[in-house]
Order: sequence, then C-alpha cells, then structure tokens
Amino acid sequence: MTLAQTRIKGEVTIRDLSKSFPLDGETLTVLRGISLDIRGGESLAIVGASGSGKTTLLRVLAGLEQPDAGEVLIDGAPVHGLGRDRAVIFQEPRLLPWLTVLDNVAFGLEVQGLPKSEAAERARRYIRLVGLAEFESAWPRQLSGGMAQRVGIARALTVQPEILLLDEPLGALDAMTRMTMQQELTRIWHEEKVTMVLVTHDLEEAIFLADRVLVLPGVRGEAIRLIEVDLPRPRDRNDTDFVGYRRQLMAEFGLY
Ligand SMILES: Nc1ncnc2c1ncn2[C@@H]1O[C@H](COP(=O)(O)OP(=O)(O)OP(=O)(O)O)[C@@H](O)[C@H]1O
Ligand SMILES: [Mg+2]
Repeated sequence: MTLAQTRIKGEVTIRDLSKSFPLDGETLTVLRGISLDIRGGESLAIVGASGSGKTTLLRVLAGLEQPDAGEVLIDGAPVHGLGRDRAVIFQEPRLLPWLTVLDNVAFGLEVQGLPKSEAAERARRYIRLVGLAEFESAWPRQLSGGMAQRVGIARALTVQPEILLLDEPLGALDAMTRMTMQQELTRIWHEEKVTMVLVTHDLEEAIFLADRVLVLPGVRGEAIRLIEVDLPRPRDRNDTDFVGYRRQLMAEFGLY
C-alpha cells in the first residue's frame, strides 16, 4: 500500500482566507488571512466571541459561502460549493415532520439515488450508532430535543462524509443531555474516523471534544490562536489537567 492510500481522508487546508461583509456602506472584515491545516480524522473546535466569524468560517468550509480571498482545499482539491465529502449539522436538527425517523435519516441517500432498501439498511446502521434503534418508526414530534439532534447526526453520517461540520450542535440542549451527547459525539467521531469541525460557545465542550481548539480573535483583531489539547480519552472534566486547559481558554477571553 502506498503512503497516499494509508493517509486518512478528510484533510482540510485553509490558505490566507479572508471574508468581509458590507455593513452600513462600510466593510466589516470578519475573517482576516486565516491559514490552517486540519488533519484527516482530527477533531477541531472553533471558539470565539459572538460575531467573531465562527459560523462564517464553517459556512466557507461547507461551501455555502465564498471567501473574498484565499482558498479551502479538501484532500488537495479546491472547494467549490457544497459537496458529498462534507455534512453540516446545525443547532436545530430541522427534521421533516411528515417523515419517520428512518425516512428522515434515509432521505439524503434516496436523493442521491440509492435504491430504497439499500438506503433503509444504511440508515438503520446510523440510527443504531446514535442509540435510537427502537425509535426508527417514531415521528419527529415524539422525540425529545436530544433524540431529535441524534437523528440529525445520524442523517448527516449516513451520507458517509469525510468531514462533519457542526455549528453549536448541542446549544439547544439542557446541561445533562448536553454532557451525554458530548460523550456520544466522541464515540461516533472515533468509530467513524471522520474529521470533525465543531463550533461552540462552550469552552468545556471544546476541551472535552477537540484535539485542537482554534480561538478566533475578537474585535481587537489579534491573531488566531491554536491550543493543542493533550489529554487522553475518554476525558475527565474534573481532572486537574482538564481544569488547567479550561483556565487557559478562559484567560484567552479575559475570564479568570
Ligand atoms: N450574510 C451576511 N451578511 C452580512 N453580514 C454577515 C453575514 N453573515 C455574517 N455576517 C456578520 O459577520 C459577523 C460574524 O458573524 P458569524 O455568524 O460568523 O459570527 P459567530 O461567531 O458565528 O457568532 P455567534 O457566536 O453569535 O453565532 C457578524 O458581525 C455578522 O453580522
Ligand atoms: Mg454562529
């Protein structure tokens, strides 16, 4: 096997990326010359103040937004619009209320032209992975918030993306469900060997899930910072080293 074949896919290269928006006749620069390499199979968290451009960066990676300058490469190929190599998960799962859990998860595969029985089989595999095997015939309205978000995750995974892009995916959940879902996400990321890019407001969530945390600068326009989280998994939130990382990240935001 050659070296190229052994490399995990889902490598993201961000080069000199800039993005501005017009605001009241002026230009608001949101992302300024960002360069970053995300390893295939890495878990990267993006944190930053509200308005620092986290969602914008994620949307550029998804191909939903065009950068003004610079480029994004996935496994060496430039991104042009949406692609099957990427799946996006938002804060709300946006399930189709007239479809069962199974049909919601299988929907994307059927759109891709996979025969119905094959789509259902693959969808079941991911419904099992997120722990909802008993709920495949349920309707979205019968699910709790955490369960609905699990369905959203299963739906994103069934198309077998190389890169999972998540924007505050657990933001609408209560604290307990959120912690359980963080554990689930770690397990799923590990089992699927997918590259994960996660936007979050929650610094503890970033440390719990990520190999590296990208801190976007605030209005003062400092440089971006990258913090390597060198902790074994499964991670323990109460561990002294974990708490040390939390203190370090809080200091990044002037929160001591
Ligand atoms: N389509 C758009 N048109 C104009 N301005 C935009 C657009 N999208 C984002 N912005 C502006 O860019 C800035 C960054 O927005 P973005 O949504 O990326 O922030 P964020 O870091 O995700 O914030 P939050 O934590 O509140 O979700 C904001 O000032 C916002 O007003
Ligand atoms: Mg946002």
